[in-house]
Amino acid sequence: MHNTRRTLIAVSLSLTLTFVPFLAYAASPQPAKGEHGMVVTAQHLASEVGVEVLKQGGNAVDAAVAVGYALAVVYPTAGNIGGGGFMTIRFKDGRSTFLDFRERAPLAATKTMYLDKDGKPVKGASLDGYLAVGVPGSVAGFEMAREKYGTLSRQDLLAPAIRFAKEGFVLEQGDAASLQGGAERLARDPAAAAIFLKPDGKPYAVGERLVQPDLAASLAAISERGADAFYKGATADAIVKASGEKGGILARADFENYAVRELKPATCNYRGYEIISSPPPSSGGVIICEILNVLEFYPLSYLGAGSAETVHVMVEAMRHAYVDRNSALGDPGFIDNPVAKLLDKNYAREIREKIDPFRAGVSQELMPKGFGESNETTHFSIIDNDGNAVAVTYTLNGSFGAGVVAAGTGILLNNEMDDFTQKPGVPNLYGLVQGEANAIAPKKTPLSSMSPTILAKDGKPFMVIGSPGGSRIITITLEAIVNVVDHGMNIQEAIDAPRIHHQWLPDTVYIEPFGLSPDTEKLLTGMGYRLDLADTTWGQAAGILVGGKSLAEIEKGGGARYNGAIDSRAAAGKAIGY
Ligand code: GLY
Repeated sequence: MHNTRRTLIAVSLSLTLTFVPFLAYAASPQPAKGEHGMVVTAQHLASEVGVEVLKQGGNAVDAAVAVGYALAVVYPTAGNIGGGGFMTIRFKDGRSTFLDFRERAPLAATKTMYLDKDGKPVKGASLDGYLAVGVPGSVAGFEMAREKYGTLSRQDLLAPAIRFAKEGFVLEQGDAASLQGGAERLARDPAAAAIFLKPDGKPYAVGERLVQPDLAASLAAISERGADAFYKGATADAIVKASGEKGGILARADFENYAVRELKPATCNYRGYEIISSPPPSSGGVIICEILNVLEFYPLSYLGAGSAETVHVMVEAMRHAYVDRNSALGDPGFIDNPVAKLLDKNYAREIREKIDPFRAGVSQELMPKGFGESNETTHFSIIDNDGNAVAVTYTLNGSFGAGVVAAGTGILLNNEMDDFTQKPGVPNLYGLVQGEANAIAPKKTPLSSMSPTILAKDGKPFMVIGSPGGSRIITITLEAIVNVVDHGMNIQEAIDAPRIHHQWLPDTVYIEPFGLSPDTEKLLTGMGYRLDLADTTWGQAAGILVGGKSLAEIEKGGGARYNGAIDSRAAAGKAIGY
């Protein structure tokens, strides 16, 4: 190793040992333990639903479907049947699959639909109201998962959601805070306001009951008639009617033509662990793998969590991978994604050769040729007694989506169209600057960052992980993996540890409050990094580790079979094992 490089490592190590308080939250609670199953979601009632399904003999897919429907009621900020998402499944026999039930652009969508006559993006057009809505996929996704891989009846899996909608549920602090956060937005749409705000226009408070009779009726129709009740019945009609009346372009044919895609997951190997994650139309799995392939060469465990050297190589790997994300990836039905190249270990070596060991890279120098987190999504992780593992991330995109409900449906609709490139070079909700590969076209799916991920080791499930967080989903999921595999944190510490994020543009390293010590910040600034230390916390990861709460416990033996952790940032979530 180069001498100066060794010196830098020695300096950062000695600083870490001498002055820096250890970076994972020292007081992280212990992970939840279970011997037969584990359900981790962002809302405690939904976690209970999942565990009940497992106890009744359902498998992890059954539990995931019941949780997906339940979150649509008890976690309306992101849980949904008016949005879309992804499900990664690893079966007990080692096979794996991926369901893409993300939104598709309406048939009447055009590449320039969010630009004014001068070619400038119209503020809010891709975020607010019916023009922002993509054709929802959640119901089709849940029903396909249940029919193909579940064991319980549709009625069984929808019953808890219908009950919560019909009878209501009492709001706890996290639930009330989330409704309060969306109050202003929800007040703009009379149908949404009638559900989520009290008659006096104020948000519901802790201890009050949220009842959603229209949503109960929409869910009951699905329970009786299946996905057709949503896509070919009164629900689709009501949404199309409201869309037509309020400036949208959704048509009945959009709903009738909606189809789930079953795809091969994106996979790679990191230090002997098999990573199974989301392929395009998500960028998540491919970009996590690209970053891990770059990092595999560096002794992260030796360099230490949060050291300047570790942050440096992580940020540089992120910078290069997000250039690829933002310029080369898109819906596989429309473009040829260079997945094989991005997952190639030789490509990772080429990236490493471009990383200056002592200096920050410069994003503008990586501009591709021809290139012109409110972050409310939700993730849940489930594993059953047989070892079937399911990771689901689904979303309305922004908090409460487009903020609109078609009268009589009780269903909040997404604003997923914002994930497309409105115009090459113009940032979206997440500040992502994207290119032509992700341009809008009818029936196309916008590029996502959602990364429902499962790790396996020696043919057995090892970890289930994912998070909301918009463009930061990728780095949140990545850092949880690195924290477990390289830094030896237990699953709760790995999820709670302060995060860093870089996404090529803007050329800034985002750091959670107290994420790095002042000494480390100084070292990084000296290397040429621009740090944003004023950002708030982000993400709500949900993870499971199998065989122990940490690598050390797994190696020692005797740990709980399933160890679950909900992010300490998730105010309403819970990990429940049994
Ligand atoms: N809407 C956030 C994502 O799919 O990445």
